[in-house]
Amino acid sequence: MRVLGIETSCDETGLAIVEVSGNNSFEIKGQALYSQIAMHQNYGGVVPELASRDHIKRIIPLINQVVKDSGADLHSIDAIAYTQGPGLAGALLVGTSVAKALGMALGIPTIGIHHLEGHLLSPLLGQKNPLEFPFIALLVSGGHTQLMLVKGLGQYIILGETLDDAAGEAFDKTAKLLGLPYPGGPQVSALAESGQSERFNFPRPMLHSKDLDFSFAGLKTAVLTQVKKLGGTENLEPSAKADIAASFVAAITEVITEKCIAALNTHEQQHLIVAGGVGANVQLREHLNHACELIGAKVHYPPLHLCTDNGAMIAFAGAMRLAQNPSLATSSRSFDVRPRWPLDQLDEISA
Ligand code: KG4
Ligand code: ZN
Repeated sequence: MRVLGIETSCDETGLAIVEVSGNNSFEIKGQALYSQIAMHQNYGGVVPELASRDHIKRIIPLINQVVKDSGADLHSIDAIAYTQGPGLAGALLVGTSVAKALGMALGIPTIGIHHLEGHLLSPLLGQKNPLEFPFIALLVSGGHTQLMLVKGLGQYIILGETLDDAAGEAFDKTAKLLGLPYPGGPQVSALAESGQSERFNFPRPMLHSKDLDFSFAGLKTAVLTQVKKLGGTENLEPSAKADIAASFVAAITEVITEKCIAALNTHEQQHLIVAGGVGANVQLREHLNHACELIGAKVHYPPLHLCTDNGAMIAFAGAMRLAQNPSLATSSRSFDVRPRWPLDQLDEISA
């Protein structure tokens, strides 16, 4: 079975073809991605209307490219998985309508995928010995920060989540305060490498709250206060910028790591999956690896190119769902997108 994955929930047009073979092994046969980052950078964040228009412009050439790269033609595709939500409504509509139209033209079924399930399962893609359920998952992206107990496909119990900003948002806002371009996560991380993390003692929000929730708004405010004290974004010395970045990264990684360890301990689990854009962060990976090693747990990450939004994770989630339950594929041409769609409201899949 070959599944075409279409991701258009935000500012990346992602396409991929994933092939499932008899022994339930999944392989990426082709991938194409167009990132709109350069376009949105001028505005300091994603402009929804521009995002939708750009997806329309890119999606068909990218589908042609991914089909060609996979060494097959469109007629060899058996099903289309597309991101149905959550995300920007207009952007989601582009991917969804292309998926439905192509499905109708080719006479093949489609399946709507939850974007976060795509992230969540991506560390399993391409693993020789697939991880077995249950496990703990940390989802840290631009819009979400959640800890989950994953009991099976579609069986996600939310153990804790952010009460305000998402981790990626905290990175992006800190980047803005330091005068770094959007998206700030990778920039803050790179700058932090040359800074002194002990210089500023930023708060570790909810570190001792005894639950598994997060809060990053106070940390962002502490960075803002510090930047102001030093004369504002324009007047920051390069060394002060690096030290703020390093101190911020130290604070946020400590909180995230501690909560992950608490989740593993409380729920007596040995495996942690880390997904979402912030999962690409090297400092977070270092901390998590070290802390998990100390308690005998193992951390699993997707390859770096699958950390941020991409089509392969959507194709993979679709392929996994269809492999377990083929009746999930629909030939219905009616569609709705779900810009808001809590992950724990997903249908469970029984084989
Ligand atoms: O998962 P993602 O691609 O998009 C969604 O939000 O769904 O995550 C994007 C977020 C952005 O906030 C970006 O700044 C952050 O992930 N990010 C990082 C790194 N790479 C991406 N944050 C910290 N360190 C990184 N290396
Ligand atoms: Zn994402």
